[in-house]
Amino acid sequence: MRVIKAANYEEVSRRAAMLIAAQVLIKPNAVLGLATGSSPIGTYQNLVAWHRAGDLDFSGVTSVNLDEYVGLDGTNDQSYRYFMNEHLFSHINIPMERTHVPNGLAADIAAEGAAYDAMIAALGGIDLQLLGIGNNGHVGFNEPADVFTEETHLVDLKEDTIEANARFFASRDEVPKRALTMGLGGIMRAKKILLIANGEAKARIIDKAVNGPVTPQIPASILQLHPDCTIIYSEC
Ligand code: F6R
Repeated sequence: MRVIKAANYEEVSRRAAMLIAAQVLIKPNAVLGLATGSSPIGTYQNLVAWHRAGDLDFSGVTSVNLDEYVGLDGTNDQSYRYFMNEHLFSHINIPMERTHVPNGLAADIAAEGAAYDAMIAALGGIDLQLLGIGNNGHVGFNEPADVFTEETHLVDLKEDTIEANARFFASRDEVPKRALTMGLGGIMRAKKILLIANGEAKARIIDKAVNGPVTPQIPASILQLHPDCTIIYSEC
């Protein structure tokens, strides 16, 4: 595990974007695993800027996102599909049909999860998975639990996650209570993992995830077992 402490959010974002850009440069048909939330916004801004400058071509890239709220369709401005279009996909030349986000409206969520994992396997797996981390150590929406869940699955979001995500909604009541998330098996099968975070609370949970025991109570701690994981964080 490589743990890089950056000075601030801008540096985290620039360094993370450099690693993603390097992945795309060395493998133009890379499969990128992507995340939403506030952490990757700066990273995506850098990628968009480098694409606009003519330095980065996403025409061969395929993307798979980690998660989606249950019950929101892609035109809802709180959905993760909408977020990805707004912050990245609409500004680069990735073919939209090769951008994948779990379908939070699927009638059969279990079947959607299995199909999502099968689709990733058929793509040959994820070359580089970008992750954020929750204050409680969640990655994707794999919340603290008694066991690590392997496959893409339905989760009931924890109160602290709903609380943390309420900032993106008009009111706390509007935050969906369930999500579909790639499991920890899917994340761990990625060839490379890049986790980014900023702020004091995130620095504290990263310390526990990196230096504490591997436990499903801190889902990110499983990354200690990954052969090629980079964490870039800043305390502010
Ligand atoms: C988002 C995701 C979540 C976030 C995490 C941190 O796709 O999977 O695990 O990465 O909740 O969110 P921010 O970056 O908003 O603090």
